Amino acid sequence: MPTLFLLLFLILVVSADPQTFYLKNHHSRTPPVYDVESGANLYLASNDDWMYLKNITFKTGNNTYTLEKLLVPNDDGSAASIPVAGDFSIYNTNNETVTRRLTGFFYITTALQTQDPTFHVFVLQTTQSVRVTGISSTVVILNTGLINFTDYTEPTMTSYVTNINQSPNTNLYFHWGMPYDDWKSQTNNTFFQNPIVYLVMMRFNTHVSHRFFDHVEPLQVGLDYWYFTVDGPVNMYMENKYVRIDNYNTNTTATSTTGVMISTYLFVECSVEIRPIEYGVGVAGYIITTFMDDDGSMLDIELFYDDFYPSSYNDYQCNNIGVLYFDYQQAYSVTVRRYEGGTFYLQYFNFAGDVWQTSTVGNKVTSTTPVATTHKNGSAAVFAIKFVVFVLMASLLS
Ligand SMILES: *[C@@H]1O[C@H](CO)[C@@H](O)[C@H](O)[C@H]1NC(C)=O
Ligand SMILES: *[C@@H]1O[C@H](CO)[C@@H](O)[C@H](O)[C@H]1NC(C)=O
Ligand SMILES: *[C@@H]1O[C@H](CO)[C@@H](O)[C@H](O)[C@H]1NC(C)=O
Ligand SMILES: *[C@@H]1O[C@H](CO)[C@@H](O)[C@H](O)[C@H]1NC(C)=O
Ligand SMILES: *[C@@H]1O[C@H](CO)[C@@H](O)[C@H](O)[C@H]1NC(C)=O
Ligand SMILES: *[C@@H]1O[C@H](CO)[C@@H](O)[C@H](O)[C@H]1NC(C)=O
Ligand SMILES: *[C@@H]1O[C@H](CO)[C@@H](O)[C@H](O)[C@H]1NC(C)=O
Repeated sequence: MPTLFLLLFLILVVSADPQTFYLKNHHSRTPPVYDVESGANLYLASNDDWMYLKNITFKTGNNTYTLEKLLVPNDDGSAASIPVAGDFSIYNTNNETVTRRLTGFFYITTALQTQDPTFHVFVLQTTQSVRVTGISSTVVILNTGLINFTDYTEPTMTSYVTNINQSPNTNLYFHWGMPYDDWKSQTNNTFFQNPIVYLVMMRFNTHVSHRFFDHVEPLQVGLDYWYFTVDGPVNMYMENKYVRIDNYNTNTTATSTTGVMISTYLFVECSVEIRPIEYGVGVAGYIITTFMDDDGSMLDIELFYDDFYPSSYNDYQCNNIGVLYFDYQQAYSVTVRRYEGGTFYLQYFNFAGDVWQTSTVGNKVTSTTPVATTHKNGSAAVFAIKFVVFVLMASLLS
């Protein structure tokens, strides 16, 4: 029997996952106690009114904490944290009406990540410069409630990312979700990459081309949290703001450029015009990930070329992960239409110039091979394991 318990213990330890706890779901003076991984770090992402936050405390191990310590960033701009001791409970004396309007959340990493000096967490309150040095870094961005949120056609939290300053010799990936313990090998949750990897078909063979874009559109990441990985120094600037792009009136800021469209919220149609088009050869396309509802929901993506070419038109249903589509010609617009529900992450690109000449930079890119599978649902898996443990323990003890 002890062996069995040890085995179960090990399963629980190795399956430690990062977690979030939204303040709006925790309204209690006698709260439940949650299991968290001992040695992991706790962060708070919130721009809720201090008048309400001061009524919230949490307890881990033998210590009770108020929230102000977590609201003041470290000297380098990264977020303050508190190590957790295996258990965690949130005490909230605000009334239910107040609690339901709170947008903030706690984020708990894994213990492995706290031991990794290349792992960083930033909270975006209003503006945030993010700079990392070193040969590889992971940076988690926790957003806070959108300032000047007007209606439900906008994300409730978003990062507006500009001024990405990256060497062409580094590979930068943005990922949705939060990093699990296998984050360094997991690349199938990428929604933006620079350089972009695609296959160039020559007359007799095919080879991999890495196209670095030195111009990137402002990237609007309408997610509560996301992270990036990079194999070199990078810095970028982020703002807590949202600019509407669903009005057929958004022009890119250069011809050779790349940008993203992300939707987890209400969003029906969106178009970006790539101007001015430069005459001559080029390549245009996109990388698309979809998790469309399983009821005939669909995403249409159209690339319009110049007057002499028909537009390319593709439908995506259900789950597609990192599917690359491109043509050897420049596009003058990208239009996305969503029919019914689902989530998608689109990176579009247009390049004016000689595509036959493979760029030699960024040759360490590991290709995110397009695969179509179902979405990893870590919390469901952990729940299943914990449930099995519970049933086994109950039967052993009875
Ligand atoms: C909490 O306090 C008790 C009693 O003082 C002590 O035995 C225990 O080790 C403490 N737990 C932690 C996590 O510090
Ligand atoms: C904070 O909690 C106290 C009860 O401890 C309550 O009387 C007070 O109204 C709360 N403050 C706010 C702003 O809700
Ligand atoms: C909840 O608390 C807020 C702030 O203290 C107060 O203005 C409001 O009247 C309270 N609502 C209820 C239903 O008690
Ligand atoms: C929010 O709106 C106010 C008033 O229109 C404006 O002054 C402020 O700059 C806006 N803030 C952001 C972050 O967009
Ligand atoms: C985009 O470019 C077109 C053509 O140059 C121009 O007519 C239009 O006003 C521009 N739109 C915006 C939002 O700048
Ligand atoms: C992503 O890759 C990981 C392994 O790196 C795998 O466990 C997971 O199922 C994959 N998820 C999807 C959605 O393909
Ligand atoms: C993950 O699983 C939970 C619990 O079964 C479910 O509520 C949630 O919607 C799932 N999330 C995704 C993205 O499938």
